[in-house]
Amino acid sequence: MLKRLFSFGRPKREENGTYRYGNQHLIELRKIVKTYKTAAGGVTVLKGVDIQVDRGEFVAVIGKSGSGKSTLINMITGIDRPTSGEVLVGDTAVHGLTEGQMAVWRGRNLGIIFQFFQLLPTLSLVENVMLPMDFCNMYKPGERYTRAMELLDQVDMSEHGHKLPSAVSGGQAQRVAIARAMANDPPILIADEPTGSLDSRTANSVFALFEKLVSESKKTIMMVTHDSDLARRASRAIIVVDGQVANQYVSRALPNLGVDQMTWVTRQLERTTYEPGATIVNQGDMSDRFFIITRGEVEIFLMHPDGQEIVVDRLQQGQYFGEIGLLSGGTRTSTVRAAPENEVEVVALDDDAFTRLMSESDTTRNALDEIRQERLARDAARESDLAATNQ
Ligand SMILES: Nc1ncnc2c1ncn2[C@@H]1O[C@H](COP(=O)(O)OP(=O)(O)OP(=O)(O)O)[C@@H](O)[C@H]1O
Ligand SMILES: [Mg+2]
Repeated sequence: MLKRLFSFGRPKREENGTYRYGNQHLIELRKIVKTYKTAAGGVTVLKGVDIQVDRGEFVAVIGKSGSGKSTLINMITGIDRPTSGEVLVGDTAVHGLTEGQMAVWRGRNLGIIFQFFQLLPTLSLVENVMLPMDFCNMYKPGERYTRAMELLDQVDMSEHGHKLPSAVSGGQAQRVAIARAMANDPPILIADEPTGSLDSRTANSVFALFEKLVSESKKTIMMVTHDSDLARRASRAIIVVDGQVANQYVSRALPNLGVDQMTWVTRQLERTTYEPGATIVNQGDMSDRFFIITRGEVEIFLMHPDGQEIVVDRLQQGQYFGEIGLLSGGTRTSTVRAAPENEVEVVALDDDAFTRLMSESDTTRNALDEIRQERLARDAARESDLAATNQ
């Protein structure tokens, strides 16, 4: 009976590439809202979060303290439930499980690692690693000890297997916590600041262990971290800003920004949608905003003095425009329109915000400047072509 209600088993894709609920990604969060009731009234800490993570990805979750990272992660582990929205992990609708179903599903499908290892203090390390197998009745009882020792061996802790957690260092305890998370060989590991209480060298070795689990054991990992150097080594980062996920195309357009800058930029952005073919900026107008394309494509036109208009470029999601006029403090050097076949969504920074961003981030300014030089050279070449053909 239970089997028909939800799946205990490992996620399996259908032939058409989707999971049981039509979800195409191993982890899918759809329009997640989380509101906590407090004495002062409701506080909404997740404001409509959409996330997709594919099998084999190593995703870092970053953001300022209080932005909602742990709340977000707790939606996936089922430690907490969304007020509305859906959490789909493989074939399971996590938000719909009862507590009992949740515990079994979690034990078989997720490895969870916290900042403070949470090993049981009265059990030896090897007994701690055996615990999830006992709890979920995975592997034959006679095999569990050997398997636990093998897992401890993978994290270089087998020689300490019979010690109590209090007898090992923080880094060693965290390695044991990772071995414990791997006990039932779950496809997904979820970690909330697993290196948060470790010194940087130990943090590095724990992180290397995660990298190995992705590359050699094909695990999928979501890891909250405050360490931007470690986050850069993941396959991508999800940036949480005020209970929302920063637009991935904005982070792609401005890849060198730190968490504080990205948080600030996200708060300044103004979103606008344009109909197919609509004009976004006109050549000759004063430059007042910088645009990043978040959906659809735009075309760039140069107007020749005789009224002729030529397309010089086409930009897509994650590319930007408007920097030329702003960096030179002048007018628009080209006209930009939504491509004729699609609606376009852009986010814009005003002049002041753009200027502040450029003054705070050398790498971003240099990257933008390089693109600007290329575009100016392109426009100059097209202008001289036009002049030649018109002679
Ligand atoms: N049970 C709760 N009741 C009320 N508010 C809560 C509760 N849990 C979290 N919050 C609030 O939700 C917001 C997000 O908290 P969360 O713990 O997700 O942040 P975080 O990004 O993980 O921060 P940190 O980096 O400090 O761990 C915070 O403002 C926090 O005070
Ligand atoms: Mg947290």
